[in-house]
Amino acid sequence: MRHLLNPLDFSVEETERLLELATDIEQNLPKYSHVCDGKKLATLFYEPSTRTRLSFESAMLSLGGSVLGFSSANSSSATKGESVSDTIRMISCYADITAMRHPKEGAALVASNAAKIPVINAGDGGHQHPTQTLTDLMTIRSLTGRLDNMTIGLCGDLKFGRTVHSLIEAMVRYPGIRFYLISPDELRIPGYIRQDVLEANNIEYKEVNNLDDAMPQLDILYMTRVQKERFFNEEDYIRLKDCYILDKKKMKLAKEDMFVLHPLPRVNEISTEVDDDPRAAYFRQAQYGVYVRMALIMTLLEVEKPC
Ligand code: CP
Repeated sequence: MRHLLNPLDFSVEETERLLELATDIEQNLPKYSHVCDGKKLATLFYEPSTRTRLSFESAMLSLGGSVLGFSSANSSSATKGESVSDTIRMISCYADITAMRHPKEGAALVASNAAKIPVINAGDGGHQHPTQTLTDLMTIRSLTGRLDNMTIGLCGDLKFGRTVHSLIEAMVRYPGIRFYLISPDELRIPGYIRQDVLEANNIEYKEVNNLDDAMPQLDILYMTRVQKERFFNEEDYIRLKDCYILDKKKMKLAKEDMFVLHPLPRVNEISTEVDDDPRAAYFRQAQYGVYVRMALIMTLLEVEKPC
């Protein structure tokens, strides 16, 4: 039995197979409509979500399976003090696979140790968000035809943004990847990512404050929201929340074939005037999230690809 807690739980080859399956699902959706008949997915969301929870549910329903779960800790027995370990032991009796989001870093790992079914980390605090990374990889691969030899700008809240941490860990495994890490000083990438991931893998990277200067160099610009829910005081959040706003003027500085990604939700960091730019890929990215999660559910449940 396998879990997905971190993007590195899948090798580069396994990730490639999963992305190929997701692409086949995208192109031949009806073929997959009964491959998970009789299977159940439990979505355990202790933190708010729109895309991740609903795309998991859409994915399982599109595979012919069913879905159960809760969308907030308040509607579960967590409010009575039940532990994640006990909850997951129960869920193992009710479902075949589970996707869990929790505000505490490491919660998905704790769940996996008690589970009798595959556990998918749907976001654990400011730590990791591996299914967003698979979505990002599918988006980049579909748009550019490759996952290597590119300059990626990661912009915004690089400290608390778990999607950024997971994406860096996944991308450093491909040759010729360079990063611009664009953030205010207070929201720089955590030291463990800088030392244990970037420097340990001899990855070329620059930490900068200025988005305009970086724009012309980028093949991918990955914008992120300042993570209000992880701040200890509101004053800091208010001071930093609009530190970068991507607008039409900034887009003029970018390459014609650069793409803008964002895990969403956005607040102010991408002006809606950018949405019509053909390089704005964030809504397509959300759509790829369904195909990737369908492929992931099939992979973890060891469901055969239909002929
Ligand atoms: N990208 C993402 O995780 O969005 P949600 O918080 O809406 O699930």
